[in-house]
Amino acid sequence: MDSSLNYNYKIVRQFAVATVVWGVIGMLAGVWIAAQLAWPALNFDIPWLTYGRLRPLHTNAVIFAFGICGLFATSYYVVQRTCQVRLFSDRLAAFTFWGWQAVLVSAAITLPLGFTRGKEYAELEWPIAILIAIVWVAYAVVFFGTIVKRRVQHIYVANWFFGGYILAVAILHIVNGMSMPVTLFKSYSMYAGVQDAMIQWWYGHNAVGFILTAGYLGMVYYFIPKQAERPVYSYRLSIVHFWALIFTYMWAGPHHLHYTALPDWTQSIGMVFSLILLAPSWGGMINGIMTLSGAWHKLRSDPLLKFMIVSLSFYGMATFEGPMMSIKTINSLSHYTDWGIAHVHGGALGWVGFITMGSLYYLIPRLAGKKQMASMALVETHFWLGTIGIVLYIAAMWIAGVMQGLMWRAVNPDGTLTYTFVEGVKATYPYYVIRFGGGLMYLTGMCLMAYNTWLTMRGTQSVDARIPALPSHGRTHAVPEHA
Ligand code: HEM
Ligand code: HEM
Repeated sequence: MDSSLNYNYKIVRQFAVATVVWGVIGMLAGVWIAAQLAWPALNFDIPWLTYGRLRPLHTNAVIFAFGICGLFATSYYVVQRTCQVRLFSDRLAAFTFWGWQAVLVSAAITLPLGFTRGKEYAELEWPIAILIAIVWVAYAVVFFGTIVKRRVQHIYVANWFFGGYILAVAILHIVNGMSMPVTLFKSYSMYAGVQDAMIQWWYGHNAVGFILTAGYLGMVYYFIPKQAERPVYSYRLSIVHFWALIFTYMWAGPHHLHYTALPDWTQSIGMVFSLILLAPSWGGMINGIMTLSGAWHKLRSDPLLKFMIVSLSFYGMATFEGPMMSIKTINSLSHYTDWGIAHVHGGALGWVGFITMGSLYYLIPRLAGKKQMASMALVETHFWLGTIGIVLYIAAMWIAGVMQGLMWRAVNPDGTLTYTFVEGVKATYPYYVIRFGGGLMYLTGMCLMAYNTWLTMRGTQSVDARIPALPSHGRTHAVPEHA
């Protein structure tokens, strides 16, 4: 049969399964390093099991493997459904899958071996960084090529967010990645000193803005209306907050460099733009939550909607907390402490994790030709394990963070420090144990998801869905929410 009459579900299925598998691996690494912080002997004196090497393995695995595989899966699905056309090129799409897995496997080998560029979230050495750039260009060609050959006049807003994320990541990766190789496994940044720091955090913050935010808003705008069976609350708001968000994010990076050698006025610009960022962020959060207007009762019985709505609540929380932490006086307390880790994981576990899980629970049965996951009871259990796990994780880190900040700055009347550093470490111990417990619950939920995915998919083949018949001339004006 002519494959151009069908959507390409095979690639979506491959990336969906990869997301689940890498999710388990990345979170296992997270739980392991959480345990090491409480019980340092768990590195067994083996160099490649030390905290310094496993920590970047965790961040790379959760962001680039779990996070980005989820975005590949959903963006490839959404762009086809809303443009009502098959992907631009099956071969190129397959290349993005295998190319990206090659990147991830190389990362999983080189990071524990200690090869690193030493830039946070951009650790991978130059040969891998070049492969990332090549795969990313192929991704852009597949995605935008599909938009160009679309059969629906309107470009649905989810695609704007996915498109913005794909373009921005290409620019960030290439600019921040400029390096001078000295050997096959070692390179040095092209920038030096404070310029290097500035470029690095322009990159780092926009990785948050475009990977961990814009991409997932793409999921919000497709999967929440579909699951709630309601149109987007305000389509106009979705467009306004899209432009406001991408414009504002670009300037907020210096909030990572408060009280450093970076010129003071640059730090202030970072702070001001971070405060402005609250508005477009909450625009998206409110728009997503209000999409449930008239369908709130579904939350009682639908665990997928629970994942999605709780995810938006964490998004709202993280994007309130972030602007507050960017205020210099507050940052002087929070920086270097576990408060930052609480902020990160409120966003990562609550927002990024939950919206991905909710969207995949929608997607996986459809890719297996089924109506729903094999066990909805397991989905519900996953939701509660995850939610309680997040609360334990972030509450413990909030308390630990504020306590550390206050202990470090406490001074006696004679001007000497009240506490030694090690007293702060000792006081943090119980909170590290609680965080480990919360992380373990979250990981257990992820393992249930993997088991449920296997139950749902076993014995099934990837079945491509039929593209609806449209007039052969020109483009249709189909209502995007019902694609
Ligand atoms: C079972 C779940 C998880 C656990 C137990 C966990 C644990 C940890 C730990 C212990 C650290 C190091 C903290 C420190 O250096 O003090 C960390 C860092 C980090 N994790 Fe996770 N994590 C989990 C899931 C995730 C997920 C799903 C994401 C992203 C989607 C994520 C993103 C990050 C990031 C970005 C950092 C670096 C933060 C920074 O440098 O400020 N984590 N995680
Ligand atoms: C309005 C939105 C946001 C603003 C203004 C903001 C602001 C901040 C600030 C001020 C810091 C601490 C910088 C420092 O003291 O070093 C920070 C750290 C961080 N935030 Fe946010 N945040 C926002 C949303 C989010 C979201 C939604 C996520 C999603 C996961 C996120 C992930 C992170 C990460 C990973 C870090 C740690 C970076 C590092 O030091 O390695 N942020 N953010």
